[in-house]
Amino acid sequence: MRNDTVITPQAILRQEYVAPGYWVDTVEMGFDLDLKSTLVANRMVMRRNHASTEKDLVLSGESLKLVQLRLNGVKLKKADYQIDGETLRISNAPDEVTLEITTQIQPSKNTSLSGLYASKGNLITQCEAEGFRKITWFPDRPDVMAKYTVMLRADKKKFPVLLSNGNLIDEGDLDDGRHFAKWEDPFKKPSYLFALVAGTLVCQEEKFKLKSGRKALLQVWVEEGNLDKTQHAMDSLKKSIRWDEERFGLELDLDRFMIVATGDFNMGAMENKGLNIFNTKYVLANSSIATDIDYAGIESVVGHEYFHNWTGNRVTCRDWFQLSLKEGLTVFRDQEFSADLVGTTTGRAVKRIEDVRVLRQVQFSEDAGPMAHPVRPDSFVEINNFYTVTIYEKGAEVVRMYYTLLGHDGFRKGMDLYFERHDGQAVECDDFRAAMADSSGRDLTQFERWYSQAGTPRVSVVTAYDAEAQTYDIKLTQSCPATPGQEKKLPFHIPVAMGLLDAEGKDIPLYCDDYPAQAGATNLVIELTAASQTFRFNKVASEPVPSLLRNFSAPVVLDIDYTDEELGLLFANDSDPFNRWEAGQRLATRRLVKLTKVLQTGEELSLDDWFINALRNTLNDESLDPAFRELMLTLPSEAMIAEAFDVVDPQAIHTARQFVRATITRHLKADLLHAYETHQTPGKYRPDAASMAKRSLKNLALSYLLEWADESTFDLAHLQFKEAANMTDRLAALAALTNFNGTEKQQKKSEKALRRFFKDFKKEDLVIDKWFMLQATAHTTDVEKVRELMQHPAFTLTNPNRARSLVFNFCNANPSRFHAADGSGYALWAELVIALNKINPQVAARLARSLDRWKKYPVGLQAHMKLALQKVAATKKLSKDVAEVVSKALAA
Ligand code: TRP
Ligand code: ZN
Repeated sequence: MRNDTVITPQAILRQEYVAPGYWVDTVEMGFDLDLKSTLVANRMVMRRNHASTEKDLVLSGESLKLVQLRLNGVKLKKADYQIDGETLRISNAPDEVTLEITTQIQPSKNTSLSGLYASKGNLITQCEAEGFRKITWFPDRPDVMAKYTVMLRADKKKFPVLLSNGNLIDEGDLDDGRHFAKWEDPFKKPSYLFALVAGTLVCQEEKFKLKSGRKALLQVWVEEGNLDKTQHAMDSLKKSIRWDEERFGLELDLDRFMIVATGDFNMGAMENKGLNIFNTKYVLANSSIATDIDYAGIESVVGHEYFHNWTGNRVTCRDWFQLSLKEGLTVFRDQEFSADLVGTTTGRAVKRIEDVRVLRQVQFSEDAGPMAHPVRPDSFVEINNFYTVTIYEKGAEVVRMYYTLLGHDGFRKGMDLYFERHDGQAVECDDFRAAMADSSGRDLTQFERWYSQAGTPRVSVVTAYDAEAQTYDIKLTQSCPATPGQEKKLPFHIPVAMGLLDAEGKDIPLYCDDYPAQAGATNLVIELTAASQTFRFNKVASEPVPSLLRNFSAPVVLDIDYTDEELGLLFANDSDPFNRWEAGQRLATRRLVKLTKVLQTGEELSLDDWFINALRNTLNDESLDPAFRELMLTLPSEAMIAEAFDVVDPQAIHTARQFVRATITRHLKADLLHAYETHQTPGKYRPDAASMAKRSLKNLALSYLLEWADESTFDLAHLQFKEAANMTDRLAALAALTNFNGTEKQQKKSEKALRRFFKDFKKEDLVIDKWFMLQATAHTTDVEKVRELMQHPAFTLTNPNRARSLVFNFCNANPSRFHAADGSGYALWAELVIALNKINPQVAARLARSLDRWKKYPVGLQAHMKLALQKVAATKKLSKDVAEVVSKALAA
């Protein structure tokens, strides 16, 4: 459907890449820092790139006041250059140019949190992807790499700490109570990795010995009063440094590595060279404010940013279409880091399952909607809209497939070759693939389609057993749905890790015609490359149950018809823990989908004992890691169930899922109570894998128990809330209480607990975010309640964490309330997207995506959603960010 009221903004095309007309060798910057008005002096030594078709010297700038411009010492007049919107062009410039540019900027007016901005009186930068152009005119593109020297000057009282990339080479006092610090980054870098921080901060620091024996200074900088929350980030940083040395032979290349935490940040964190800047959410932790999930998040984000030092900074992207080159690879690396730290087989599987859950719930959904794009997109309007789960998480899956195809050592060889070839360069996804192909001698030509084709492939399975010949055939057929701009897809190169189970659930040795070298193995990676392919297995004594796509070896949907009994066998026995979990999810989804349909016809709901008993056995299986049992007992989310329907009924899905949860509790109450009691973690809080696993199972048990509660189970939650010695247990109890539908007296008690929680933690922003989040996602919270919470003095739209905690959580994680039949949820959404658009386009565009899948809802809801989308689209001064998202949604 076309919508004429929306003008799709101008897209940038990958095919139109032109090398820069000029390179920049060195950049010397001088900052006179001040919240209201900062002066930026920039001296660039530039040299013509004779290989480029671009003959002009082209710079980008945004929201800058140009004070002065000199070329080779001569002040340029208006007629010597052209400014057209955000482009400054100098024609007929000589081959060797020294450009000196002075600009004036206003950090305190910058609410976009991109460029140089103010945060609680401190000055912070965020330059990826195109924020450097808000600081000075510059060829702000990642293929222009230069050496930076940065002089920072500011009032010493207001800005006692002055940080930038690289090494501190000089510092001292100036007149009028001012001081300076001079920084030099020894490595060439693209402008998006530039950073500075100025303000009142304190740090935890430590000298750390690197593999080579060299010592590096590690610092974690936070606001005053937060030094009791930096230890975990510091520990995570040290583990990251060690891990990259050991797993990839990559050492820290700087003498100083700094992390700075700020409460005003658009995303998770940023890998600026030597000066990583983080959202406080991914730095600050101690047992009283952070949950186990927060601890794990910090470890993985600290790792992620640190790992970028090699995958992103030393080797960077030629252009932003290659974003997944650094992001997909670095997510893969942080996933492996977290898995290696746990170490055990089930521990690794737990991590894998958690990652795949996100991929399926968010990325598969993106792939099926109007914003679907390949891992290496062909076009974009606003690059900030392409920091997506497809670029990050699907990108990581693509890297993981090389790992699966080439093996542990083969992958390492490929990485080594990649660095050998491209250290210090800005390259493309194809260069990474070439390194993997050339180091292994494998033909990875077809593998390229994982980068160029969007959409989630489907693999369907048909099997045939021949008892007489003792052969078992597995026929795999692949397809991929159309996505915007891509009608037809070609077959992908899909690694399918698999095994075959006998009637006892044991793996049988595999003798596949196509893989003679692996004869007798019980685990095999078969490669699907054609549209349809049959794999024959010999010496199969009785009809087996196939276990396919083990460890989720490819980001595809596997269509396979299992009976409940076959799934039960896999659920109880598969040697691959991922597929054990997967079998359970299939059993649950099957029932949840059926119950949702039953609800729509008004018949009575019921749940079979067979399923409940399978869950009981797992819950009580002491040989299984409690973290794994927690996953096995967690039902697919409402969003996940919705994916099984062509037309989504969020209320019915919610009711069906609640029915299943309540029924499970009704039958397993004693078992759940037993699990609750036997998985306590008394004593000092410890965020290690074993304690976290216990808490996760215990708190899952608690949340189930309150689905079919009596006085005693309610009191159990209330007691846990009151007496919890850590935030994990306190928040879990409060969530259970908040979601509980009890007597009036109990409701009152729950409300009192919420108030208490607020009072106790009102000085901790990250905990208040949790307080909003809990309420935003509670089933009892409707649109009216959200509006009421927005009036709370602690609420503000200008802080992204706070906006996300209430607004994003309501729109994205409370489907049965957000999709209210009267469209009031969508009206609220439109108001907020429009309000955020003025404050912070990046954040606004993220919220705008909540209506991406509007075509999947009943026509009544669709009409309301379309109106809301049109309202946003018709807004004056709509940012490119929001315009791209809503125009693509409306075009669906
Ligand atoms: N490169 C960062 C990462 O993956 C994320 C990032 C991109 C970012 N753009 C940003 C962070 C803008 C903050 C703001 O770790
Ligand atoms: Zn990243």
